[in-house]
Amino acid sequence: MVGLKIAAVAALSSAVLAAPQGTTYSPGDWKSKIKNVVVLVEENRSFDTFAGGLSYNPAIDGLLHHNYCNSMNASDPAQMDDVCAGPRANDVAPDDPNHSISGVNMQIFSTYHPDEMQVDEFHEAENMHPRAEAINYYTPDQVRVFNTMAENFVLFDRWFASVPGPTNPNRAYITSGTSHGHGQNDNAFNVYGLSQKSIFQQLSENNITWMNYQNSTTGPGLGFNPDAAFYSWTATSGANATNIAPLDQFYADAKAGTLPQFTYINPECCSYQSFHPPSPITLG
Ligand SMILES: *[C@@H]1O[C@H](CO)[C@@H](O)[C@H](O)[C@H]1NC(C)=O
Ligand SMILES: *[C@@H]1O[C@H](CO)[C@@H](O)[C@H](O)[C@H]1NC(C)=O
Ligand SMILES: *[C@@H]1O[C@H](CO)[C@@H](O)[C@H](O)[C@H]1NC(C)=O
Ligand SMILES: *[C@@H]1O[C@H](CO)[C@@H](O)[C@H](O)[C@H]1NC(C)=O
Ligand SMILES: *[C@@H]1O[C@H](CO)[C@@H](O)[C@H](O)[C@H]1NC(C)=O
Ligand SMILES: *[C@@H]1O[C@H](CO)[C@@H](O)[C@H](O)[C@H]1NC(C)=O
Repeated sequence: MVGLKIAAVAALSSAVLAAPQGTTYSPGDWKSKIKNVVVLVEENRSFDTFAGGLSYNPAIDGLLHHNYCNSMNASDPAQMDDVCAGPRANDVAPDDPNHSISGVNMQIFSTYHPDEMQVDEFHEAENMHPRAEAINYYTPDQVRVFNTMAENFVLFDRWFASVPGPTNPNRAYITSGTSHGHGQNDNAFNVYGLSQKSIFQQLSENNITWMNYQNSTTGPGLGFNPDAAFYSWTATSGANATNIAPLDQFYADAKAGTLPQFTYINPECCSYQSFHPPSPITLG
């Protein structure tokens, strides 16, 4: 079964410059030095789960300096049976919490249909023990590549989900600023069904080269389409044939120094290098 999980985004520029102390750069100085922008999208992990254990800078708003606990029963905070976050997230998450919009409502609001007055902390009514895994976090050693990139470049410690729901609507937000009303991974995403202008179209219109490399096992029940294939323009312009390529091609192009100006990478879905349970976090 294909799990449907919200996208977490790691947007990684290949040339983010750190100015030596005392030097002032204007945007023009560093912009001209950026040759390639590479965006890698992964499935949802919260900031606290993924980066909450990073320790290279005490200013990171993670979990190291908090004792973060929720009561087991959202309706009864006095109940002393707490679930607390700890540095014990598993490389392969043993559970995949329901992340439909209504499932997330239940986790956040303790009801499938929240009204404004019922805001609660992360909870899921049923079967809390396995779900408690979701508030645990990784140690820097478990996410070494990410830790190294964060330490040497830039880390944002406020992460937001455009749609508190599954993958494709969130990926549509990333690539076009809207899901066009879609709240589920419905069939429109499989058939070039979205009509809005995407970043891919905009790049082409501005003569900026781009590729959508992908390792998806595209097809109903098999995985997600690469994001460029959500959009009608991609098919009508012919970009479906020229600008979408397998992930292996990314490795070859990177090695040969022939990456386009803008690279957008979709992992497979959902059990290998996508971060979606049961993908091991170390492969992402
Ligand atoms: C995202 O991941 C966090 C941490 O595992 C979890 O609490 C949350 O329910 C997930 N949200 C969605 C929409 O999948
Ligand atoms: C949670 O607490 C409420 C209010 O005390 C109670 O009615 C409910 O049965 C409890 N749920 C569980 C799963 O213990
Ligand atoms: C998630 O929960 C909602 C609300 O109960 C339900 O309609 C949906 O079928 C569930 N999805 C999965 C994948 O279990
Ligand atoms: C893109 O290239 C075409 C063909 O060279 C040119 O006509 C067009 O003006 C260019 N567009 C932009 C936005 O630079
Ligand atoms: C994608 O491009 C190929 C080659 O141009 C074309 O034959 C095919 O029909 C296109 N696919 C879709 C779904 O439009
Ligand atoms: C693509 O994903 C599959 C699993 O779905 C994996 O076996 C394969 O090695 C991946 N390819 C690359 C180039 O990462």
